[in-house]
Amino acid sequence: MMPTAFPLFPEQVSTVARDVDALYLFLCALSGFMTLLIFILIFYLALKYRRTPENEIPQEGEPGPLLEAAWIIIPFFIFMFIFLWGARLYFTEARVPDDALDVYVTAKQWMWKFQHPGGQREINTLHVPVNRPIRLTMASEDVIHSFFVPAFRVKQDVLPNRYKTAWFQATRVGRYHLFCAEYCGTLHSGMIGWVEVMQPTDYQRWLAGGSEGSLASQGEILFQKYACNTCHTSDATGRGPVLGGLFGTPVQLTDGSVVTADDNYLRESILNPQAKVVRGFQPIMPTFQGQVNEEDLLKLIAYVKALPKPVVPGGVPAVQSPRSATSAGSTPSGTAAPPAPAATATTATAGQPDKRNNP
Ligand code: CUA
Repeated sequence: MMPTAFPLFPEQVSTVARDVDALYLFLCALSGFMTLLIFILIFYLALKYRRTPENEIPQEGEPGPLLEAAWIIIPFFIFMFIFLWGARLYFTEARVPDDALDVYVTAKQWMWKFQHPGGQREINTLHVPVNRPIRLTMASEDVIHSFFVPAFRVKQDVLPNRYKTAWFQATRVGRYHLFCAEYCGTLHSGMIGWVEVMQPTDYQRWLAGGSEGSLASQGEILFQKYACNTCHTSDATGRGPVLGGLFGTPVQLTDGSVVTADDNYLRESILNPQAKVVRGFQPIMPTFQGQVNEEDLLKLIAYVKALPKPVVPGGVPAVQSPRSATSAGSTPSGTAAPPAPAATATTATAGQPDKRNNP
């Protein structure tokens, strides 16, 4: 419905752009109509009811109940209409389609860094395939930034200390401007870039050039570098919980509450392990705040997500049972499996879920 040539509007290049514009134009038209109506009435009534004899006294008068009901009921339905329209659009933008491709975004003063599941990294330019939903998982290394691509009608604040997600599906091949839309310091206006929307075949060719190994496999190297594998073994003998198959499942905490092991939970558990201690385990994990940067956090989380559910020899998946605090405390290293075999066991399968995303 929007002429794309209209110079005040950016092109519509995503699945939601048309709907966002339609709602926006409706609000503008409604506000314009009301403003006009009010001004016309002001002038008309001021003239009509002006005081003609100098000493005229105003007449008393109450509006009828019908008129009163009308100015309550009509605006109510108009506002409910706007609310339902906006809510529908909000849910569309908040619910990421299941088949979305993942892109990990790190914002910092003053650049955008992108990481793909295959390990490709880029700065201030994001390559994506056309007609494919893209899920952005975003965090900031310093202050609040905001990821804004006008052509997609997508804008999401990027915060330090937690992950925010957004998604878009570009509908046309091309190059679209990316802005930081939150004042973030001296070079805020220079924190810009491009989103390159490509044909799927061109995108595959682009992916094939230059990768340092998948995000999960880079995470595995870090997992060993920070010696996470000495406590988080692949069987239930370690001092920390088994991480295989953990992602997306409910976790029982020492305070009796249950949380879902999502990206934000994993992130917090690395940086501030004492915040949510898993039931049956001691709060002995050191913090990695200040040691692991945002990009490495994304790699570690990608690795944990890719870890397969451990299988016990009988063929039944190992159920993570809360271990008694005494056994965890009394034999800190005696019962723990040697780190090396545990690490190799996960090496063989860690990369697999990745291939599905990156054929
Ligand atoms: Cu980042 Cu403004």
